[in-house]
Amino acid sequence: MTNQSIDSLLASLSLEQKAQLLVGGGNDGFAGSGAMLGHQKRLVAGAAGITVEIHEQAIPSIVMADGPAGVHIDPVRENVADTFYATGFPIGTALASTWNTALVEQVGQAIGNETREYGCDIILGPGMNIHRNPLCGRNFEYYSEDPILTGKIGAAMVRGIQSQGVGACPKHYAVNSQESDRTKVDERLSAKALREIYLRGFEIMVREAQPWTIMSSYNQINGQFVQQSYDALTTILRREWGFNGVVVTDWIGVRDTKAQVHAGNDLMMPGYPQQVQDIITAVNNGTLSIADVDTCVRRVLQLIIRTPRYNHYTYSDQPDLAAHAVITRQSATEGMVLLKNLGDTLPLRSQIRTIALFGVNSYDFASGGLGSGCVNTPYVVDMVAGLRNAGIATTPRITDIYQSYIPFATKKLRADKDPLMWFLDQGQPKLPELEISDRLIETEVTQADAAIITLGRQAGEGMDRTIEDDFNLTADEHQLIRRVSEIFRRERKPVIVIINSGSVIETASWQAYADAILVAWQPGEEGGNSVADILTGKVNPSGKLTMTWPIACSDHPSTRNFPQPMSLYDYKERQNWGTPIQFVHYTDHAEGTQVGYRYFNPNERPVAYPFGFGLSYTTFEYSRPSAKLQGDEVILSVTVRNTGSRSGKEVVQVYMGHELKAFAKTHELQPGESETLTMRVPIRLLASFDEPNSQWLLPADEYTFAFAASSRDIRLTKKIRLKQYTEPVNPVLLPK
Ligand code: BGC
Repeated sequence: MTNQSIDSLLASLSLEQKAQLLVGGGNDGFAGSGAMLGHQKRLVAGAAGITVEIHEQAIPSIVMADGPAGVHIDPVRENVADTFYATGFPIGTALASTWNTALVEQVGQAIGNETREYGCDIILGPGMNIHRNPLCGRNFEYYSEDPILTGKIGAAMVRGIQSQGVGACPKHYAVNSQESDRTKVDERLSAKALREIYLRGFEIMVREAQPWTIMSSYNQINGQFVQQSYDALTTILRREWGFNGVVVTDWIGVRDTKAQVHAGNDLMMPGYPQQVQDIITAVNNGTLSIADVDTCVRRVLQLIIRTPRYNHYTYSDQPDLAAHAVITRQSATEGMVLLKNLGDTLPLRSQIRTIALFGVNSYDFASGGLGSGCVNTPYVVDMVAGLRNAGIATTPRITDIYQSYIPFATKKLRADKDPLMWFLDQGQPKLPELEISDRLIETEVTQADAAIITLGRQAGEGMDRTIEDDFNLTADEHQLIRRVSEIFRRERKPVIVIINSGSVIETASWQAYADAILVAWQPGEEGGNSVADILTGKVNPSGKLTMTWPIACSDHPSTRNFPQPMSLYDYKERQNWGTPIQFVHYTDHAEGTQVGYRYFNPNERPVAYPFGFGLSYTTFEYSRPSAKLQGDEVILSVTVRNTGSRSGKEVVQVYMGHELKAFAKTHELQPGESETLTMRVPIRLLASFDEPNSQWLLPADEYTFAFAASSRDIRLTKKIRLKQYTEPVNPVLLPK
């Protein structure tokens, strides 16, 4: 459809119809009946929402399903024999830890394909908020504490999804780095922190990948609700960055409707009747211009005509789940991060045939997180199956004990569930650990060649994590690791810890008890197979951390201003719609830009594992660093040679003044093989934010680029002289 025909379509719509197009279809597809998350039943059951059909003009409803780790829809439907399970892909953190944009794009293609084949038009992802603090409950959906990495991985994901003819909806724009009080909280921060840390990733993604839509977050920024902020949605997003898609609200925050339309928040989801009425009234009484309404309606129409549903695409309801299982297995494996490997414990020696598996998550392996970001997967490969598929047995007694416990514990958890804790039905909550006696460990050691302990964590939408018993280990977990370690090491049998968590946990106090530690994240439905691929050496680990692992959570300066404490079990006490509670409705970003490694590295603070860290089974040597100016880009290159005896991939990171500026990953290098990696960095990404002058500024100077294996393992440097660069931006969203 041409612009002209959009114009004539627009001209044919009544004010009521226009208002309906700007307000989602709620529960039943008619303007604004309201909807509980994921409870939409019309068109595609379990999708998050739909727009309203305008029958007379043949404008169909389009369907939005949650992501970001796969298509979140109901797996079974009443009176329908077929099932609608979707592939559970690795969570955001795991994907970013691959540092492999081509691989992420491939995952995006598979997710986009399932979106289309399950009859959806838009997938609500990727999640691109910054890991400001390890306690954010949704960090698992997000990529990193670093904006450049977030932007590049996000852009790759958007490109992949949209290559399938469906839209992405990167979220939650912006500064939505906490769940506590998320629908109201005012994020107070400097313009420098806002621009450099919290907006930059979105900016890179918008400029590189032009998402069809973007989701405006619930929170306020410096006193303005994002969803009704002209500064955020029009001045910055559209004027400065050139976004030309549709802004979709996040789901449960109702704002001043006319202010939203004026701000350029085109579509209000899930949609309430009052919002339709608000638009009509505001236009009629002159407080909202019809020009503002038309601008949003035009964009919504432009979106709709791109969708499969408008173009009468016949979806199969049968995506190729087997092919996608291969993709999720490979990408998950590549995102796993090996933190420790004492005396080459891994890959497992061939004489290790039987393993004693400890920890409930070994048997109830978490493929993803909780809340809207969960996926109803056809299955999850646990550690028992993963090891078995790799030819390794588990000891029968403890396997049996845990396997009998899991269904019992699952049933109990669901039975005891408080109705307010809806997220327990959205994903796989963590089951309480079983107490394991020394006697049992003593029996196990006689039958096993090694021990694996899986430490599990679960978090998700609507709640943040606590330091005690979540970031930190519980007393029982400590005890388990210590006892297993003492008993197995006494027999010279190795102890391996697998971390099955969406985000960071404490490691410093117990790491000495483990011979090897692997961060498996929440790696999607093939989890156990992906872990086994690393343990057996079928795949050489090449993931690197996308966030700092601190010694204590309080080492992060942001912890001082992060809402605390809030555990799963006092969550209901603190819900907006539950018992009234006192929130401080703002968060001070006193740390400014000192987020993650930007604080730890320049200040030389000790950490457990630094940003960018990850071990391999082989070694790499860097040579021939180069930095050249070409037009408005710096071209960086370095040669990487595999100097070890196994094939493997290496992630090279390039830092300028302690900040990541570029990265690249080699292909699988055979022993002795080299590859020259080339990275192109626009000069504008080298600039920092000059607050007094509201501009990006790179002063003329000589700059050093550090080619590094992690943010604390710089291998080579190269200097280059650069001219001054400035780029003025609008002085908006400033602190009061
Ligand atoms: C979440 C979004 C999600 C939406 C629809 C919201 O509460 O914050 O991430 O896409 O619900 O389910």
